[in-house]
Amino acid sequence: MAERKENVVMLPFMAQGHIIPFLALALHIERQKGYSITFVNTPFNINKLRSSLPKNSSIRLLEIPFSTSHHGLPPNAENTDVLPYHHVIHLLQASTSLRAPFKKLLQDLIHDHHGHKPICVIADIFFGWTVGVAKELGLFHAIFSGAGGFGLACYYSLWLNLPHRKADSLDFSLPDFEQASKIHVSQLPKNILEADHVEDPWGIFQKENLSAWVDSDGVLFNSLEEFDQLGMQYFRRKLGRPVWPIGPVLLTSESRANSSEKAELCQDWLNTKPPNSVVYVCFGSMNTISLSQMMQLAMALEASGKNFIWVIRPPIGFDINSEFRADEWLPEGFEDRMRSSRRGLLVHKWAPQVEILSHKAVSAFLSHCGWNSTLEALSHGVPLLGWPMAAEQFFNVILLEKEVGVCVEVARGKSCEVRHEDVKAKIELVMNDTDKGNEMRRKAGELRVMIKNAMKHDNVVKGSSIKAMDDFFQCCKKVNQGQQQRA
Ligand SMILES: *[C@@H]1O[C@H](CO)[C@@H](O)[C@H](O)[C@H]1NC(C)=O
Ligand SMILES: *[C@@H]1O[C@H](CO)[C@@H](O)[C@H](O)[C@H]1NC(C)=O
Ligand SMILES: *[C@@H]1O[C@H](CO)[C@@H](O)[C@H](O)[C@H]1NC(C)=O
Ligand SMILES: *[C@@H]1O[C@H](CO)[C@@H](O)[C@H](O)[C@H]1NC(C)=O
Ligand SMILES: *[C@@H]1O[C@H](CO)[C@@H](O)[C@H](O)[C@H]1NC(C)=O
Repeated sequence: MAERKENVVMLPFMAQGHIIPFLALALHIERQKGYSITFVNTPFNINKLRSSLPKNSSIRLLEIPFSTSHHGLPPNAENTDVLPYHHVIHLLQASTSLRAPFKKLLQDLIHDHHGHKPICVIADIFFGWTVGVAKELGLFHAIFSGAGGFGLACYYSLWLNLPHRKADSLDFSLPDFEQASKIHVSQLPKNILEADHVEDPWGIFQKENLSAWVDSDGVLFNSLEEFDQLGMQYFRRKLGRPVWPIGPVLLTSESRANSSEKAELCQDWLNTKPPNSVVYVCFGSMNTISLSQMMQLAMALEASGKNFIWVIRPPIGFDINSEFRADEWLPEGFEDRMRSSRRGLLVHKWAPQVEILSHKAVSAFLSHCGWNSTLEALSHGVPLLGWPMAAEQFFNVILLEKEVGVCVEVARGKSCEVRHEDVKAKIELVMNDTDKGNEMRRKAGELRVMIKNAMKHDNVVKGSSIKAMDDFFQCCKKVNQGQQQRA
């Protein structure tokens, strides 16, 4: 008789930045462990996911009923990608209404498997309420963070303590995370800056739902122990639970729908450039910068004399999907000069990031330092020029710059004043043959090897992240067996 396959149930928050790392983890578990995966989300998101699953995957997509109109949200607005920012909190609040349907879904699943329970439920960092559901059904529960340990530790600590509310200066330390350097108010996302735990909905939501983690059985991180230990230690201490850094898990090219013309264009262009001569500029799939920042960045790139690929979108205040108006949003003649000199390649909306970062011509990555982009850069040994925009990105930059030494911050936020002279100086600092630049490249190279080793698994060696994944499932099994014996 064939052994029954263990089933893992996964529930990410309804945002691309959460769903995609969950999908990468799901594919990783399927490949590594051969377990079956039930991937749960609202109908709109499940529909969207169908086309991104690789053909050879047997991940089961399961819809959980959800009606946006019951929560005052626009029709089909089941993903933060299609929501104006002020509605994001409403989607978060509405997500807690998934509690009863999620419990029902799990009960049905157990029933369909003749009483055989899933080996674990892996839920989003924003879904503290799932802990209660899992415990009611006697299921092992873990949180999965697509963000890194250090960045999330700062974020978690800030939401729980709101230290800036009590500080009498513009920078302050985190009361339960003194190992982290001081944080400056300009590094706070707007919702944290404005938060309190009484009046505002973000503050109330985060305090209650993030604190619910203490009842979970542990936390999985898309990170590795070797350079993210401070963050891992924070959560081990804070929650008194195991924490498993199992990353980086990233979507590989095969599992992406795309590739094609654009990839070829970038490849051909990069092939004409000398090694280590190109700066790649991209602020992630969700972000853009202000008009004046865009002008200054263009001037800096031009003045630096460096080659560049710039993934460019309309500036803040304009429809992000509208036609790019180079004559209005860039210095006069900029695009033509860059094209005719072949110095710079402007790519609209989206670029094949992994293909670019893996090219030997690329020397540095000017990035918002979202965790996904960070991992992709480090996996390829590319140092960063950090320009954090939102959420925990500010703290990722602190980790990368102060602790790891592979990043220099160039600017902060979507509205700060940016001077092209400063940006140019930072680009040169990192890309020129300077002590600092060489040291950063050396470190980034070390990290590339570190990451490769962490994910290594053959008959002889298992890397730290592979071991952490083994350990996680062993822990699930042990706890589940203990419960069976008690029952
Ligand atoms: C699916 O195919 C990819 C690419 O060939 C491979 O790396 C992966 O292991 C396969 N996954 C499964 C579950 O067989
Ligand atoms: C999560 O936040 C919602 C909305 O603020 C609240 O109703 C709910 O009780 C919180 N859940 C937990 C587990 O604390
Ligand atoms: C990471 O970001 C790239 C580019 O923004 C995107 O194409 C990719 O799907 C993301 N991968 C994950 C695992 O989030
Ligand atoms: C695929 O390419 C299109 C346009 O070329 C882009 O809009 C889309 O985001 C890409 N999809 C993925 C999964 O990277
Ligand atoms: C970087 O190199 C360029 C070209 O050699 C040079 O003009 C510039 O002054 C250098 N900048 C720094 C900071 O070393």
